Amino acid sequence: MRHVTIEQGRMEIILAPDAASACCEAAARIAAHVRATPEPVLGLATGRTMEAIYRALVGLHRDEGLSFARCRTFNLDEYHPIAPDDPRSYHAYMRAALFRHVDIAPERTRLPDGAAADPAGECRAYEEAIRAAGGIGLQLLGIGLTGHIGFNEPPSDFASRTRLVELDETTRRQNADLFDNRWQNVPRQALTMGVGTIMEARRLLLVATGAAKARIVRDALEGPVTPMVSASALRLHPACTVVLDPEAAELLDLA
Ligand code: GLP
Repeated sequence: MRHVTIEQGRMEIILAPDAASACCEAAARIAAHVRATPEPVLGLATGRTMEAIYRALVGLHRDEGLSFARCRTFNLDEYHPIAPDDPRSYHAYMRAALFRHVDIAPERTRLPDGAAADPAGECRAYEEAIRAAGGIGLQLLGIGLTGHIGFNEPPSDFASRTRLVELDETTRRQNADLFDNRWQNVPRQALTMGVGTIMEARRLLLVATGAAKARIVRDALEGPVTPMVSASALRLHPACTVVLDPEAAELLDLA
């Protein structure tokens, strides 16, 4: 594991030897945060990259007694419109990947309600719930091919809050696998935490693996800090760690 620090010591980049170790490193950091914090508030993410991280966390729960009972969780985003019990929803993803395998009460887990009749009201309530929980202690993040974190497609104001957004065609194509591999079936909209919401988390942990992410990882970490690449905002955060495998890090100057 090689550790590199950039941007006047703000961002820590971990170059893992392969994707499996990148995901184990991320899981180990989440586990350490949960163990060290009396009332952990976790920000969670979805996507294929996260599946191995959740598998590792479930393993730590089963084999090493890692308890999630004291945690509250807030996910980054959910499609709109989609019902929480729809198997293609992020609600269903989270139940299948993590929640039903660990000791967390369902009422302590929250995702934006993609079926809310009043999406703007739901977004306000989501922000309020995060505040009432004391803010997010550790936010897990992936990165989309458009540079999005959550579903903050370009351009996304760095001060943006939880809101209803339109998804880029690139993103709908990237996420078509859950929708019978037909990108046209992927909802056109989503509810997502804003870049500003994400930046308020006390620690951030971004994980990217695979060659498909190399270009956008380079843009986010070494290109201009711009609302055209939401993930570039992370370089302004005081405590952000990025974990990469060699393929995702391939185009970085530092790699
Ligand atoms: C979705 C999520 C993002 C996530 C991205 C990456 O678009 N909304 O939060 O970062 O997927 O997905 P994958 O890990 O499948 O590449």
